[in-house]
Amino acid sequence: MSAPRKKLKKKLKKTHTKTQTKKQTSKVSSVLAVRLNGRFSLHIQADGSIAATLGAYSASLGQFSAAAMDRARHLTTGLPLASFAGKSALARQVQVLVHRLAQNGLLEYRLSSPRGETDVVVIEPQIPEYWPQPAKLGNGDTIVLSRFAYLRRRGNEMVLESPRAGALFRIGDPAIAATLATLSRPQKISTLRRQSASLNLDLLGLLLDSRILLKLDAKGGDGLRPNEGDGDLVLWDFHDLMFHTRSTEGRHANLLGGTYANASAVAPLPAVRPHWPGKKIDLGKFSAREPISPFANLLRERHSIRDFDDEHPLTLAELAQFLETSARVLSEWRSEANFDGGPEVAYSTRPYPAAGSAYELELYLAVSNCEGLVRGFYHYDAGGHALTEIDASPQQLQALSTAAVFAMDASGPPQVLITIAARFGRISWKYSSIAYSLILRDVGALIQTFYLAATDMGLGGCAIGISNIDLFAKMTKLEFHVEGPVGQFALGRPRKAPAAG
Ligand SMILES: Cc1cc2nc3c(=O)[nH]c(=O)nc-3n(C[C@H](O)[C@H](O)[C@H](O)COP(=O)(O)O)c2cc1C
Repeated sequence: MSAPRKKLKKKLKKTHTKTQTKKQTSKVSSVLAVRLNGRFSLHIQADGSIAATLGAYSASLGQFSAAAMDRARHLTTGLPLASFAGKSALARQVQVLVHRLAQNGLLEYRLSSPRGETDVVVIEPQIPEYWPQPAKLGNGDTIVLSRFAYLRRRGNEMVLESPRAGALFRIGDPAIAATLATLSRPQKISTLRRQSASLNLDLLGLLLDSRILLKLDAKGGDGLRPNEGDGDLVLWDFHDLMFHTRSTEGRHANLLGGTYANASAVAPLPAVRPHWPGKKIDLGKFSAREPISPFANLLRERHSIRDFDDEHPLTLAELAQFLETSARVLSEWRSEANFDGGPEVAYSTRPYPAAGSAYELELYLAVSNCEGLVRGFYHYDAGGHALTEIDASPQQLQALSTAAVFAMDASGPPQVLITIAARFGRISWKYSSIAYSLILRDVGALIQTFYLAATDMGLGGCAIGISNIDLFAKMTKLEFHVEGPVGQFALGRPRKAPAAG
């Protein structure tokens, strides 16, 4: 090759490498804006007060300056986060307003293309504390999809969720699904950039922030189950963690409880199942009209009590007897290893049945009115038959008790509100697929034991179907996936029915 041709080739090679490098490092930047979620509208009054309204519901957000009110108007379409990130008095006011809206669950975040014409994703917070903080990602970082993340249809949208995430992502661009599919294996950012010119690093940073993606460090392994970044997650099956977070309050923003959401589409099922066709064997002739034993009588007498006699609260001695009868450890024992190389396992025996004798359920007592016991939050040590006080704030105790009053439509707080929490790992260490379902069945067995023990002692109680897993995590400072509420029971001395006549 002649010298000039050689030079030309070298030059061409150089230019080619330069364009490649440029392509690798180019960044698709996008705009992250906050806006009022579609259901609410802002009412801005002449005196500077702002309220968010939905039909008859109105949340007052405080008074603001004219300039802040002006900015607030942009919340209907989207106010870029960068526009109030500074420290000026105006930025501070907007920050206060936006955080108040966030605390009330009234916001969503929009990640859009630079000119703002299309939504890349819309982020719906699932917990009040959610605030998008895109994690920084560089070419050398390796990321992978969390095994708890899932993409599903909701109405006419695709949503990306995870029980670990504080927000869900409404996907606006189908190309994102393709990127997520690639991330079923760990990928270097530099490789992803080479594969897709339109890779949105802001989005990946937001997904990392929400733990929908994981960053693997040098020792991060292959990103499979043991590398999820939290040893306490190893024992969780995907469906169990999703079920736990979606069937309780605190970590999602969906409708919850008796909402009759589809009642207009489907008629209620009959109270008693219509009998099967065929020959009937009448059992009535074998049955006594009246209960034939104290136990049969106890079952007949049991009913839910939601209102309590606060002039005559239950006493500490009664509470101790109730816990001893229903939940105290009666004995402890050990079993041989269940599998090759497995450890010996410690077990206990208690008054109620429990799957695999695991006894994963723990009792936490919010005491409002119990003679001889100071108001507070306690753990029942079932082995030592003792109560240990836990340092929860009065506001948290109040929130717990208010939710119970609401759930029971009661006239006042229960004298003692028992939260039944599960040490999830105690049961999922052994059982695959059925661990969480076993826990809920154990709760049922314990609740009936509570009902019967209370009835037997002349006390009263009521099961409660909703527990707030986020509030419990804050009160106990335990991670929601380590130990958390799976049931509640209100206990106290029943209020006497007013004398007839
Ligand atoms: C798992 C479970 C959850 C319950 N949740 C609630 C609840 O949140 N609020 C309430 O007032 N009653 C609740 N109850 C009580 C039932 O409403 C009550 O058991 C049912 O109406 C039958 O009445 P009885 O218990 O008086 O026989 C619950 C009961 C169970 C077993």
